[in-house]
Amino acid sequence: MKKLIVANWKMNPETVEQARVLLLSVEHRMHLLTEKTEVVVCPPYIYLPPFSHYTHLAHVGAQNMSTEEKGAFTGEISIVQMKQWRVEYVILGHSERRLYFNENDAAVNKKITLALKHKIKPVVCLGGDKTAKENNMKRLVTKQFNAAVKGLEKEEISKIIFAYEPMWAISTMKNSKPASGEHAEELILHIRTLISKKLGKDKGKHARVLYGGTVNKANVHEFAQFPAIDGALVGGASLDSEAFWAIVKEFSRESVHKGIK
Ligand code: PGA
Repeated sequence: MKKLIVANWKMNPETVEQARVLLLSVEHRMHLLTEKTEVVVCPPYIYLPPFSHYTHLAHVGAQNMSTEEKGAFTGEISIVQMKQWRVEYVILGHSERRLYFNENDAAVNKKITLALKHKIKPVVCLGGDKTAKENNMKRLVTKQFNAAVKGLEKEEISKIIFAYEPMWAISTMKNSKPASGEHAEELILHIRTLISKKLGKDKGKHARVLYGGTVNKANVHEFAQFPAIDGALVGGASLDSEAFWAIVKEFSRESVHKGIK
């Protein structure tokens, strides 16, 4: 399975020029990677149009999308509109959306369905909820997983990329701390079991499951060393080009090292 590193820039940076510089720092180094590593950059919506001119090897993703396809929905942006700007991925169900914008499981499920209909790959976050505690993550992840895939065909479920992202590990949350590599691996194996239950054993093994939550230059090896962890969803560290590249390089190195196909 290819390694996948997704940069979630959140509401950063402040200017389009800063966004361009940050993006080019990634794009200009992409040729150094083998085809076993993929990088997706998810800027704020407003930078998507200029981005479509600068990205060639890096892929473009959105951080959210409307539950609706078109119509009178003030302030919303539809997946159909974003597709014009080479968007191939969309992050859905992020903890910040759930916590600050009251996004619920039903909305996440609706967005996943719509993204798949338009052939956009959803990166679905599991582990974000006010109740998230280190010792109850399996229960929460199971609940969010089942709600996320409700009503979907097997074929559709197999296209979803999941990210285990415990809310307490997100760098900007109060008193946050990254998960240990062992904890991340355990929950990712749990997500694979949930996928296998829906799709059959082999599919679970081959699904792409990432870890997110304070992945940085100093701790990336902690996660990249586990073959079960297919990559990372990176927030804060993706705004520092050197730190982000160190993360990409480490996952890429591990994929070569472990002979990942
Ligand atoms: P972080 O953010 O890497 O800053 O913890 C990850 C995310 O929110 O996706």
